[in-house]
Amino acid sequence: MSGGYDDGYRDCPCFWGTEPGSLVKVLCNHVGSVRGFAVLDAGCGEGKNAAFLAAGGAVVDAFDVSVLAIQNGRRHFADQVGIRWRVGDIRDSGLPQRHYDVVIAYGLLHCLPSAAELRDVITRLQNATRPSGYNVICTFNDRRQELQAHPGFSPTLLSHADYVAAYASWEILKESDLDLTERHPHNNLEHTHSMTRILARKVSL
Ligand SMILES: C[S@@+](CC[C@H](N)C(=O)[O-])C[C@H]1O[C@@H](n2cnc3c(N)ncnc32)[C@H](O)[C@@H]1O
Repeated sequence: MSGGYDDGYRDCPCFWGTEPGSLVKVLCNHVGSVRGFAVLDAGCGEGKNAAFLAAGGAVVDAFDVSVLAIQNGRRHFADQVGIRWRVGDIRDSGLPQRHYDVVIAYGLLHCLPSAAELRDVITRLQNATRPSGYNVICTFNDRRQELQAHPGFSPTLLSHADYVAAYASWEILKESDLDLTERHPHNNLEHTHSMTRILARKVSL
């Protein structure tokens, strides 16, 4: 399994760019400092979010199923300390329980092959988060997907309400269902995705 983006990783040295995701910046503004935080960036790609948080003093496990993504990330962010790059499938990974201060899944969840596996991964990411820790989720949802820029890619789509419901027992600090219109560097085709974004805090019991 490649994760669906290997053509882009093969054609471009840094397919997703270096600017962190908007919700990662919201998280940083919310917490003030990430110094000393343990972070899991699940489906990190080339690590734009991992590198931003590591630059702020976090220790980041940057995890992706794509060998090419990790190779590009290691090369592009070679000088950034605090990133532990790992190749693996998040569905098989033995994640530590209640360990991470922050778990990020930016663009990962819709890549998973079925709704059942997607829901299972959400549960595993939640279990890997320590009490009072944060999850940052950004994913395609089922409202509007233009997939001409992603030939052969068939994402798994839940509704925005499904994602919000998955965090019903957490404190949801921010959630949105907005269109993202973008072009990718390997084919430059303009297209739009409806995106669920959720920043949530695990209620400590
Ligand atoms: C849309 S990209 C986002 C990359 C990065 N998070 C970013 O925002 O720049 C999704 C990433 O998830 C990875 N991925 C897909 N399925 C995966 C799996 N089962 N385990 C780990 N990573 C996976 C893909 O290889 C890809 O790099």
